[in-house]
Amino acid sequence: MERLRLTPLSDAIGAEVHDVDLNAAVAEGLFPAIEAAFLDHGLLLFRGQALTPEAHVALSRHFGDLEIHVQKDFLLPGHPEILVIGNDHDETGNPTGYFIPGDGDWHTDMSYVAKPSLGSLFYAVTVPPDGGDTVFAGGTAAYDGLPTAMKERLEGLRAVHDYPYFDANMCAKDPARRPLDESQRARTPPVAHPIARTHPVTGRKAIYLSAEVISGVAGMDDEAGRRLCHELADYATSAPFTYAHRWQVGDLLMWDNRCTMHKATSYDFNSHVRTMHRTTVSGDVPY
Ligand code: SIN
Repeated sequence: MERLRLTPLSDAIGAEVHDVDLNAAVAEGLFPAIEAAFLDHGLLLFRGQALTPEAHVALSRHFGDLEIHVQKDFLLPGHPEILVIGNDHDETGNPTGYFIPGDGDWHTDMSYVAKPSLGSLFYAVTVPPDGGDTVFAGGTAAYDGLPTAMKERLEGLRAVHDYPYFDANMCAKDPARRPLDESQRARTPPVAHPIARTHPVTGRKAIYLSAEVISGVAGMDDEAGRRLCHELADYATSAPFTYAHRWQVGDLLMWDNRCTMHKATSYDFNSHVRTMHRTTVSGDVPY
């Protein structure tokens, strides 16, 4: 297998991959080495890319099938596998991206479905001069750092990931947000996933949470379950386990949703545009 030149991004998570042009990487036979590094580090950064939507989708497909996001208004025209995330508008004033106001919440992508996403490939098209960073947390290192008693307590505990619950809370905070319609609600019934998730390839356990999406823990009082998830998420997203990424145009980050969490940070969205393209790779039922 080809060897890649890597430098770590932090102690707990991530590596930068140097000297790779992602438009050509698959044709050059680099995918096996990229996938191996992805499994080792949970998060890979490639700087200075000029990635076409076609190459973005083709590279993503090497990891698995791609999700079409439930927020259909923000799929890139001609490339429905790409979700546009951002604050830009078209000439008639309609938003062209899925807008995350202010600081986003820590989450792992699409945790609210029965087979949540394996990973996401996120490409920076336009970035603001300040803010709009994405912060990542390594769930494997956080799990490894738990006391044995807590690891034992988590065995068999399943958090209920509930997108309608999350959406209702988001709509209460942001009156401009359009609530889920009936068909979106029907596609996203609540689903329970283990809090300590085993990675299907590496076999390592990771803390697997999207605290704001979790309405409770199966078999526990809802409030106590949410409190447990928030306490664990606060621990797992504390400084020793995180890496904050300052975006440059042309950055491609790919992350493993099975063992990482992430969140966007705020920026001056009234004065600056931030546009990102995300593909989301389908995954398996967590265990
Ligand atoms: C996301 O939360 O999935 C998007 C992260 C970002 O916009 O930086």
